[in-house]
Amino acid sequence: MKFYRNHRLFFSAVASLFIFLTVVIAIIPALHNQLSYAPLPGSEPLAGDALKGKAIFVANGCVACHTQQVRNIAMDRTWGNRPSIAADYAGIRRTDIWRNTATLMGTERTGPDLTSIGSRQPSDVWHLLHLYAPRSVVPASIMPAYPWLFEEKSQAAPGDTVVNVPPPFAPADRQVVARPEALQLVAYLLSLKQTPLPDGTASPDFLYAGTAGNETAPAATGTGTGIADGATLYAANCQACHQANGEGLKGAFPPLKGSPIVTDDDPSRILTIIMKGYTSREKEGYPAMPPIGVTNKLTPSQIHSIINHERKSWGNQAREVPLEEVTKILAGIAP
Ligand code: HEC
Ligand code: HEC
Repeated sequence: MKFYRNHRLFFSAVASLFIFLTVVIAIIPALHNQLSYAPLPGSEPLAGDALKGKAIFVANGCVACHTQQVRNIAMDRTWGNRPSIAADYAGIRRTDIWRNTATLMGTERTGPDLTSIGSRQPSDVWHLLHLYAPRSVVPASIMPAYPWLFEEKSQAAPGDTVVNVPPPFAPADRQVVARPEALQLVAYLLSLKQTPLPDGTASPDFLYAGTAGNETAPAATGTGTGIADGATLYAANCQACHQANGEGLKGAFPPLKGSPIVTDDDPSRILTIIMKGYTSREKEGYPAMPPIGVTNKLTPSQIHSIINHERKSWGNQAREVPLEEVTKILAGIAP
């Protein structure tokens, strides 16, 4: 066979085939995608600390356990208000000349999807505690700790971001201070939110709605079926900070067990805290509570179940508040 003996002819045939396939399989579809998709009108491009934080997310291998894609199947409803679409990833640019775009969609979900973690968990303090020692906020967590994003100092300097780590996770006689890398990573996590579709655009459907996956999804984002009892709703919306035993975390999140606000005969204050957030206890070292009722889009009936659960748990004993009373007070609280 002359073709195989002629090395010039053989090499150029193989090289042309390789180039032809690269153009057809990779380059043309990529150009086509670039022309067809644009970021959604309301989306904000990553900038500043959040952009640096993305590099730290990549460097620490977070993508090995966390996806950033809401698939259009009902069991993914917990992770976002709508399935992810191509436009969600269109704003992503090449990292540098050698490296391609890091879309970070991920392939494994050992931990939760992070597409809308910025809305689901808007507290920077929670994220810092969680990165320093995941089990300080989620007792059964199997996520690794990232202590190198923090510094242990005997005396924090002015301007340092001190993280009030609860015992037994706190180092003895030393303060935990977040390094800039930790703050940038948290800025990136808080920037992760689904951009709403422009008015009038039909959202793609979640498939297999009505099957088992749908009912079991906790209504963390308020988009589930909404039929959940107070304990489940508490676990999905409040437990990350106030903990399963209602005792909170020393120096980070106050207890709801025995809290006069929770057991108050008049539920106005707790309802205002849920809808507007809360910052009255800064002197005791507590950070601000985000307006969880708004960020998690809780309905009046969900809030009704949550507060009654809190009023009757962990030894709290307060009267059951009827739904009409909750709805009436909520109507008077402008978000
Ligand atoms: C070995 C797997 C693994 C790696 C690597 C990992 N995580 Fe996690 N992550 C988990 C698991 C499991 C959970 C659920 C338990 C928990 O909340 O701690 C979780 C939870 C989270 C949550 C809370 C999600 C929610 O919905 O409450 C955030 C935020 C998070 N991880 C961020 C990160 C970041 C940032 C990194 C990289 C610095 C990272 N994770 C690396 C496994 C991992
Ligand atoms: C991201 C963490 C976080 C989540 C989630 C959260 N809280 Fe809070 N909560 C706080 C912090 C921090 C404070 C203290 C704020 C301050 O006064 O500085 C607080 C304070 C409170 C208080 C006042 C307690 C007292 O005695 O002073 C109530 C009541 C409360 N939260 C209820 C809720 C309910 C109900 C939910 C769920 C719907 C919830 N919280 C979810 C962080 C959180």
